[in-house]
Amino acid sequence: MRVESLSAVHFRNLSVPEFRPGEGVNIICGANGLGKTNLIEAIWLFTGCRSFRSARDKELIRIGEEKAELTMNFFAGGRRQDAALLLDEKRHFTLNGVNLPGGRQMMGEFACVAFTPLHLAIVKDGPEERRRFLDIAISQLRPLYAKTVLEYNRVLAQRNAALRAAKDNPAMRPLIELWEEPLAAKGAAIIEARMNYLERLNEKAAAIYDEISAGREQLTLGYRAYAREKTDANAAQIKEELLRAIGARREADLEHGSTGVGPHREEFSVRLSGVSARTYGSQGQQRSAALVLKLAEAALYAEVTGEEPVVLLDDVFSELDPARQQYVVKHFENRQVFITCCDEASVTRLADSVSVFHIEELRGIDHV
Ligand SMILES: Nc1ncnc2c1ncn2[C@@H]1O[C@H](COP(=O)(O)OP(=O)(O)OP(=O)(O)O)[C@@H](O)[C@H]1O
Ligand SMILES: [Mg+2]
Repeated sequence: MRVESLSAVHFRNLSVPEFRPGEGVNIICGANGLGKTNLIEAIWLFTGCRSFRSARDKELIRIGEEKAELTMNFFAGGRRQDAALLLDEKRHFTLNGVNLPGGRQMMGEFACVAFTPLHLAIVKDGPEERRRFLDIAISQLRPLYAKTVLEYNRVLAQRNAALRAAKDNPAMRPLIELWEEPLAAKGAAIIEARMNYLERLNEKAAAIYDEISAGREQLTLGYRAYAREKTDANAAQIKEELLRAIGARREADLEHGSTGVGPHREEFSVRLSGVSARTYGSQGQQRSAALVLKLAEAALYAEVTGEEPVVLLDDVFSELDPARQQYVVKHFENRQVFITCCDEASVTRLADSVSVFHIEELRGIDHV
């Protein structure tokens, strides 16, 4: 998979007439605040996922303008394709001339693995970040998974509303149970997909971490069920167990007004040589672990689909030692990768055949 050209109109501070990246390593360099991350974000949006900055769509439109437009030609599935994204109050995608109902229909058509300083949160922050990581990675591989997550969240909101209603009015209690079967069914599908994904990701990540740390440390990922016994079973068994666990917590849930068990509370652990990377890891170790998760995500995507995802690395080199920097660039040798940095020299010396772009030049004459 690769980007062949990208153009932008009124996208944040960018208007880019035409950016034609190379097929391998592309370095986007320039001073702070010129729009390097914005360019990476523009490419990312064609995955159909929300911005990794979790910005509201409106924030993507240049201040003072009503609309922004991105167009991209890319190569995927053995053919050239073109996509456009018009941002106004909403997001409007067009793929090969066809208007799509929403972003979800772009998933699986164009895939990226992005690593930015914000993604450090996967290792450093709370469980929500790890759930988000899994959900985005799995959705790009299996677009139907994104639909299941959406449906699960709807049913969860219904049960939570029933819990709150029943607190004041006991006659509403049967409504709570009504939502438990569908909640367990959708929840089990999510848990099974996450566990399968994590098992394969763990294998890849362990091997990559071994290389990047020259065998000094071992990385292990493990699925963590919360308020539920851990299962290693299929969706049908997980569903039975989840249904039991949800029923067992009904009184506590009534008290709290929310559902305390299910995939929305579960997560995974990231361990380095047996101890939590979140609690004990050094800054550099946490950074390496987050980066390795992303490298493993890209490797797994390629293994499952037979196609390399586009890799976006925003500002990643500032805290990696030269050996780890070298490893990253070599790792991506035969794929299209975009690396942003402020200091061009530090990156170009890492690879022989890189394409270097200066963000000021890409932006043409249309500066803010
Ligand atoms: N909606 C918007 N309208 C106009 N300008 C915007 C909008 N959103 C962001 N910007 C501008 O974009 C710039 C930030 O761009 P970006 O984050 O891509 O910079 P960068 O080149 O990655 O910088 P750094 O090296 O510091 O990471 C800021 O100057 C900001 O004011
Ligand atoms: Mg930036």
